Amino acid sequence: MHRLRHATYDDISAVLAVLNSAVAWLHQRGSDQWGGIPWHADELLPDLHTGSLYLAETVDRIPIATMSLNDTPDEDFWTPDDDPHAALYLRHLAVDRRAAGHGIGAWMLHQATRRAADDRKNWLRLDAWKTNARLHTYYLDHGFEHVRTVDVSGRNSGALFQRPTAVRPAVTVTPARTEASPPLRIHGADQRKQD
Ligand SMILES: CC(C)(COP(=O)(O)OP(=O)(O)OC[C@H]1O[C@@H](n2cnc3c(N)ncnc32)[C@H](O)[C@@H]1OP(=O)(O)O)[C@@H](O)C(=O)NCCC(=O)NCCS
Repeated sequence: MHRLRHATYDDISAVLAVLNSAVAWLHQRGSDQWGGIPWHADELLPDLHTGSLYLAETVDRIPIATMSLNDTPDEDFWTPDDDPHAALYLRHLAVDRRAAGHGIGAWMLHQATRRAADDRKNWLRLDAWKTNARLHTYYLDHGFEHVRTVDVSGRNSGALFQRPTAVRPAVTVTPARTEASPPLRIHGADQRKQD
């Protein structure tokens, strides 16, 4: 079975490989999500320092997924009316493309929800790319409700979703291929679009 743990400095390149496999995949699909820009280590350090960065591995310690999870709401999106401290906030969820399509995303959502419940939070929340309807459907299919979509200048994310921690859908993970990563082929865009 897979295991999820806090990432350490030694895991930075593994986390980057997972995230950048998703960047390349999104770009190859013609999606503008994440702007086709590879993630850099510096972007991970704040979450690493606060213990918010997670890495999932197979029993053979092959990295398969990552996310960050903490109790810090993005104030561009979540307001006092949302009772922002009643949630954990999930960001930068990605499954390595070698391992995609086997339920690992659902397992990560389950793990995040369980941690939120353990922290006595009522909700697991996230903000998703505003224009990515397929991604929104993914979250709706996994027990999230669409709270609202927020337009903030300079932010491409802002479709807000939440799932109650009291309900944790059953998760089935099927065996995934975990051999060498596909090559990263992405163009150089000007800058990453946020989130
Ligand atoms: C979301 C994710 C973690 C789910 O991983 P998984 O459990 O292995 O599931 P899959 O990758 O097979 O995705 C499930 C379906 O959602 C679709 N999907 C997932 N992320 C998507 C995205 N960002 N844009 C468009 N479609 C997406 C997949 O194409 C797949 O659709 P299909 O069944 O029609 O082929 C993974 O797809 C991923 O890393 N996506 C890219 C990064 C991302 O968007 N993260 C979420 C940020 S809020």
